[in-house]
Amino acid sequence: MPLGASLPPLPENENTMSEPIRFYYRGALREVRDAQPTQTILQHLREDLHCTGTKEGCAEGDCGACTVVLGSLEGGQLELKAVNSCIQFTPTLDGKALFTVEDLQQQDGSLHPVQQALVECHGSQCGFCTPGFAMSLWGMYLKQDGAPTRCQIDDALSGNLCRCTGYRPIIDAARRMVELPPAAFDRAALAERLQLLQRTHGFSYEAKGGRFHIPRTLDELVQLRAEHPAALLLAGSTDVGLWVTKHMRELNDIIYLGQVDALKVVAESDGMLEIGAGVTLNDAYAAICRHYPDELSEMWQRFASLPIRNAGTLGGNVANGSPIGDSMPWLIALGSQVVLRGAAGERVLALEDFYLGYQQKDLQAGEFVQGLRIPLRREGLRMRTYKLAKRFDQDISAVCAAFAITLDGDSIASARIAFGGMAATPKRAAQAEAALVGEAWNEATMRAAMSMLAQDYAPLSDMRASSSYRMQAAQNLLRRFWLETRVDNPLPSTAVNAFAAG
Ligand SMILES: Cc1cc2nc3c(=O)[nH]c(=O)nc-3n(C[C@H](O)[C@H](O)[C@H](O)COP(=O)(O)OP(=O)(O)OC[C@H]3O[C@@H](n4cnc5c(N)ncnc54)[C@H](O)[C@@H]3O)c2cc1C
Ligand code: FES
Ligand code: FES
Repeated sequence: MPLGASLPPLPENENTMSEPIRFYYRGALREVRDAQPTQTILQHLREDLHCTGTKEGCAEGDCGACTVVLGSLEGGQLELKAVNSCIQFTPTLDGKALFTVEDLQQQDGSLHPVQQALVECHGSQCGFCTPGFAMSLWGMYLKQDGAPTRCQIDDALSGNLCRCTGYRPIIDAARRMVELPPAAFDRAALAERLQLLQRTHGFSYEAKGGRFHIPRTLDELVQLRAEHPAALLLAGSTDVGLWVTKHMRELNDIIYLGQVDALKVVAESDGMLEIGAGVTLNDAYAAICRHYPDELSEMWQRFASLPIRNAGTLGGNVANGSPIGDSMPWLIALGSQVVLRGAAGERVLALEDFYLGYQQKDLQAGEFVQGLRIPLRREGLRMRTYKLAKRFDQDISAVCAAFAITLDGDSIASARIAFGGMAATPKRAAQAEAALVGEAWNEATMRAAMSMLAQDYAPLSDMRASSSYRMQAAQNLLRRFWLETRVDNPLPSTAVNAFAAG
């Protein structure tokens, strides 16, 4: 059924035991009863529904050939977001609408403006990447108001790779699609249907020896976590999905956090920005960049790609705790706290204390990450974060640095420095910080702190960078921080403010 058409009514809806997964696809309600809980949406589309427009390139969220758009109700509002279907599990579709390239054709049989523009601009050659580009463009089209900027186009397409076109014709198509006669899309009808699909209680989907629990409330989650301490917590699946598709791990007991509204809260209180663990990376960075636009906008833009940020969560980034994750250095440098929740209640830790060793966290049986508390801007703060990777978009950091000092006059009242890629965990630079506090913010102080970084870290060599490169780069980033924030003649921030401005 074409996009603009109204959807058929739901059948009688009852919340019973052993319920199927229910979602909308191509205008119809789909029920899934026998798919393995870790079957990906891409596998479901291609193997069960025989909708083969959506392609598999990498099966790890990197190429975008599998891009689909998901419709969901978030706080009662309809959200439509492009995600990578190759790393999302089919049960996560419950209560949502799935859109693929097969949906784009209009009711009268004509091409959607996105498709028409790709044709007119010669945006497709071998065509393998094209359905993914079309869906990323459609995701942008749905949000677009007027002509897109180059920055918006680049961001919308940051997760799509093409071997053939050289990208220029695809970028042309992104501009052209909004000049064509607009295509209808009945948001109100979709929101209404999705509302009917929402469950009031959590439930557990079971099939083929696997269980997939979908709690709706914090209390249900606390109880489930206590009853199943060995179950795997799943948030945006942008790490976990790859454990299945690349590492072939069998995950038979999963607790999905994506339907717990209480984990999706963004609020401000007592000088802190509180971000629930279930807030997506894109929404979390949008919220934090309202307070730190110069300092964090480039990190927002360079964190993975839009489809990864649409699915992945800030809580997942922190809980996974990779030594090369991008959020922890700046969170630690700002003095953020992590809020843990279990049956015994809440526990609050300084984020740096959460990391005990490589892949070891201070997370007790039955606990989960409930959220983060991030201090709001304070007087005299000078802060920067830098990501060094081989590509600008969609690449993992070799070194990720965050520096935050507060100045009292021209002397340093407090200093917090944290790095990723320099140790087995995201880690503060205690000795470099000590070399800064109480000193004037001048070149001599900066150089003293640079040399102390060699006491703080003994980085490894790996495929991303050698140990000596990492150390030299870390020291040079501290110098860059000084150049950009020196008291006498600071260099302008390199942050991409156009990105934060949308
Ligand atoms: C193509 C690609 C590009 C990427 N680029 C980047 C990048 O540029 N920078 C970067 O830092 N990362 C990157 N990542 C990694 C990933 O996107 C992030 O780590 C993301 O934040 C993970 O969040 P998630 O919600 O998807 O977590 P999931 O994959 O769902 O879970 C990750 C881990 O955290 C645990 N977990 C999740 N939520 C909670 C919770 N609330 N409480 C306790 N445990 C929890 C899970 O059990 C699991 O162990 C990339 C990944 C891909 C596939
Ligand atoms: S197949 Fe490459 S991102 Fe999904
Ligand atoms: S047209 Fe061939 S990969 Fe893009």
